[in-house]
Amino acid sequence: MTHMEEKRIPQHVSIIMDGNGRWARERGRERVYGHKHGVESVRACTEAAVEAGVKYLSLFAFSEENWGRPEAEVTTLMELMMDAIAREVRTLMDNGVRFVVIGNRKRLSDKLNQAIDGLMEETAGQQRMTLVVFLSYSGKWDLLQAAKELARRHAGDPEGLEAADAAEFDSLLATAGIPDPDLLIRTSGEQRISNFLLWQCAYTEFYFTDILWPDFRKEAFRAALEEFARRDRRYGKVK
Ligand code: IPE
Ligand code: IPE
Ligand code: MG
Repeated sequence: MTHMEEKRIPQHVSIIMDGNGRWARERGRERVYGHKHGVESVRACTEAAVEAGVKYLSLFAFSEENWGRPEAEVTTLMELMMDAIAREVRTLMDNGVRFVVIGNRKRLSDKLNQAIDGLMEETAGQQRMTLVVFLSYSGKWDLLQAAKELARRHAGDPEGLEAADAAEFDSLLATAGIPDPDLLIRTSGEQRISNFLLWQCAYTEFYFTDILWPDFRKEAFRAALEEFARRDRRYGKVK
């Protein structure tokens, strides 16, 4: 048994990347300066996750509510996403990472959607890890679209609707096919879900840290994995 196999490694680690604005303010800079530095943390955590044997790393990059931020900040965030997609192809391929975007893609520009589709297609065959970026995503949006789909699917079929179970509902969520997060990390000291994965976090372990996202690098990621390995997950049962 190798060193890593002795520890319990979460299959799916999810991160609410928070604190970019405060990180910039601490340095007397504009909020976007923090977002730019946050991109480096994305790269570091992706590498750390691959190295640790995590199979899914998912990142909350932009919420439906974040559309309500000043236009200049929203534009910069979308541009950073475009840049990262253009720049990181090689790193993803070299590390065996498949790239997936989940969210309300209708609200994204055609240009960004094309870039996303391109990277998703290019990395589709990679099998070491899946990197999920949640863009224009919110938990309530996902639950609502799944509920509507369930209603459409069983229109005129009351027995089918009655028989619908959690597994069927799962298959209609935007996250279908991706296992629920084992570990959810939130940086910057905030201890809330902010409309992220509401259904999928039913039995997720939560990890809160005061570290601001631009400072959350490999060592901090590994510390979260160490803490996860010490958690006792019971799923409502007794041992
Ligand atoms: C996280 O940092 C990035 C996004 C939500 C897009 P914030 O921009 O929320 O930074 P704070 O919370 O204001 O410090
Ligand atoms: C959550 O952070 C959304 C993302 C990290 C993408 P926010 O900064 O938007 O959350 P609140 O406003 O502090 O709850
Ligand atoms: Mg924030």
